[in-house]
Amino acid sequence: MATMFDRAKLDTGALDIKPLTPAIGAEIHDIDLGAPDTAQRIPEIRAALLKYGVIFFRDQNLTQEQHIAFARHFGDLEVHPATPKDQPNPEVLRIAHGPKSRGQENYWHSDVTWREKPSLGSILLAREVPECGGDTLFANMHLAYERLSEQMQRICEGLTAVHDIARVFAKRLDKAPADLHERFPPIRHPVIRTHPETGEKAIYVNTAFTSHIEGLSEKESAWLLDHLYATAKDAEIQCRFRWQAGSIAFWDNRVCQHLAASDYFPARRVMERVTIAGDRPYFTP
Ligand SMILES: [Fe+2]
Repeated sequence: MATMFDRAKLDTGALDIKPLTPAIGAEIHDIDLGAPDTAQRIPEIRAALLKYGVIFFRDQNLTQEQHIAFARHFGDLEVHPATPKDQPNPEVLRIAHGPKSRGQENYWHSDVTWREKPSLGSILLAREVPECGGDTLFANMHLAYERLSEQMQRICEGLTAVHDIARVFAKRLDKAPADLHERFPPIRHPVIRTHPETGEKAIYVNTAFTSHIEGLSEKESAWLLDHLYATAKDAEIQCRFRWQAGSIAFWDNRVCQHLAASDYFPARRVMERVTIAGDRPYFTP
């Protein structure tokens, strides 16, 4: 059943907005996110985030402190366990690849779904980009849900899936799963979540962190997850963003998934992410 949310009614004020595709994503021009009057533009920017799922800005050469200050307008900030302990700004997660490390973010996912309260959104700022390649793709998982048959929607709406940090970070942080689980135990989330601000329903399982769907056999769980993961690959629910140094992508982690194309090795790509804490996912029929 379609939700009653009407994106056309969201007031994005005087923002200069150019949508990327009808499904998701918009570039916002003529704004300096480091300017002192940014605080007054936050309601418009928040509306644009809800309206487009992911919003992009160009030529924002913010300091780390300005990046953090901008993100704080939208909520409390997270510190990722992959952030080095001695880093001066622990809220900034640096994602750097080059000749010694191939990009690893080339799978469809939402961020930190292994948290009890996964993030509301991420604000990713490009510091250094390859001459070409390293694009990020975004998929609107509400539209993915809407494209399921009604029968499949009903089946998925009653299900719960388990999300596990160890699936990605045991190897990356060189830690035993049991050690990671002391701080971040595997966590249950609804397979379909209701967006807390728009009321839209979205598919909320992802290839990175979801281990299985509860109450199904191993084979049934794997089959259904594969089917749901594949929905993100539909070109008609996606947009693709080409980065420049100083570009920002700000995505609503509750409704979209993303994938960073890892096609630029051995060139360098250095990004900094500040992540806004979110709510516990829930489902309302
Ligand atoms: Fe990510």
